Amino acid sequence: MQITKDIRYIGVNDHEIDLFEGQYIVPEGMAYNSYVILDDQIAVMDTVDGKFVEQWLQNLQAALQGRTPDYLIVQHMEPDHSAGIAAFMREYPQAAVVANARAFTMLQNFYALPLEGCKKEVADGETLTLGRHTLQFVFAPLVHWPEVMFTYDAADKVLFSADAFGKFGALDTEDDEWDCEARRYYFGIVGKYGLQVQKALAKAAQLEIRTICPLHGPVLTGDLSHYLQQYSTWAAYQPETEGVMIAYATIYGHTREAAEKLAQKLTDRGCPKVVLADLARADWAECVEDAFRYSKLVLASVTYNGAVFPAMRAFIESLTERGYQSRTLALMENGSWAPTSARQMKAMFDNSKNITWLPTSLKINSALHPGDDAVLDAMAAELWP
Ligand code: FEO
Repeated sequence: MQITKDIRYIGVNDHEIDLFEGQYIVPEGMAYNSYVILDDQIAVMDTVDGKFVEQWLQNLQAALQGRTPDYLIVQHMEPDHSAGIAAFMREYPQAAVVANARAFTMLQNFYALPLEGCKKEVADGETLTLGRHTLQFVFAPLVHWPEVMFTYDAADKVLFSADAFGKFGALDTEDDEWDCEARRYYFGIVGKYGLQVQKALAKAAQLEIRTICPLHGPVLTGDLSHYLQQYSTWAAYQPETEGVMIAYATIYGHTREAAEKLAQKLTDRGCPKVVLADLARADWAECVEDAFRYSKLVLASVTYNGAVFPAMRAFIESLTERGYQSRTLALMENGSWAPTSARQMKAMFDNSKNITWLPTSLKINSALHPGDDAVLDAMAAELWP
C-alpha cells in the first residue's frame, strides 16, 4: 500500500488473536502497522508482533525492490511492535537501529541483542536526513510506555504516531468506523496517561500534519481535525457526549429492574442518550469506554460478602486507575439484610478529582417496592433536569 510517493505500508493483520494485550477482545482482529520510507537512504518504521515477523519481512522485501534498508526506527518497545527487531538485524546487519536511550534499555531487557556498531541513539527533537525526507523525533513519553517517540516527516507532512490514534481491528475488514474502537483502545490502553497525551498533542500542534501513520488501525488522511479533537477531549478527561450510563451488577434481576426503570424515566424526560450495561456480561473495556464517554454515570450494585459485587468492584477500579474524573455520579445499592455497597462504591472514588455526587440515591431492600418509584423519579430529575 502506498501512503505517499516514498512511503509504503508493510504492516500485517492478525485474525488469530484471542485477546489483545491479554485482556481486550478484538472481534475484528488487530493490525500491527509498519512503514518504509524509500529515499536516498531507507528507513523502516517499527516491526510487528512475533507471530507475523516472517510475513512482515516479506512485505518489507517486496517494498524494497532489491535495495537494503539503512535504518530501523524503533518508536515503541512493546512486543507487538518490537518482536521483529532481531530478525531484521539478522536479515539486514548493515542497518542501524535508531531509538532513544530508554528504548535501548528495554530492547536489551527484552531481547539481549548485540548492538555494537549498529546502535544510533537519538535525543528529543533530533533529526535524521534520508535525502528528500528529514525525520524529526518527537518524544511522547507514556503514550503509551515511557520510551515512546513520534517521528515527523516534514517533506510529506506525515506524523508517525506510535500507539496514538490507533484502534482495535484489522485493516482487511468492513469496519471503517474509527471512533468506537479508537475510543475503546484509547481508554483501555492509554487512558491513564491523559496528561502525557496532552503534552504530546501540544508538541504535535506545532507541526503541519497531513497524514497520521499510527501503529494500529488505519492511516488517517484528509481532514484530521476530528481525530485531533477526539484525542484532545479524551486526554483532558472531558465528557464527549451528553448522556447517562447506568452500569449495574445484579444477581437475581432486582437491581437490573431498578436500572431499567431509571433508564426509562430518563428517556421519558428527554435525555438524549441512555446506556445500560450489565457489568458481569458486557465487554469490560466497552463499559470503561462508555463511562469516560458520557457526562453522567449511575452505579447500581448488590452487596455481596459484605462488599461491592465483584464485577462492579473491578469496573470502578478500572475507572479510578485510569484517572476517571470530572463527572456526575449517582448510586443505587441493593441488599437483603445489610446493604452497604453504596457507601463502599463512593469510597472507591475518594482519590478521584471533580466528582459530583447526586443528592438522591436508591437503597433497594431485596426487591423494588412501591415507594422506590418516587426515589427513581427524583434521581431522574436530578440527572436530567
Ligand atoms: Fe501497540 Fe503499546 O503497543
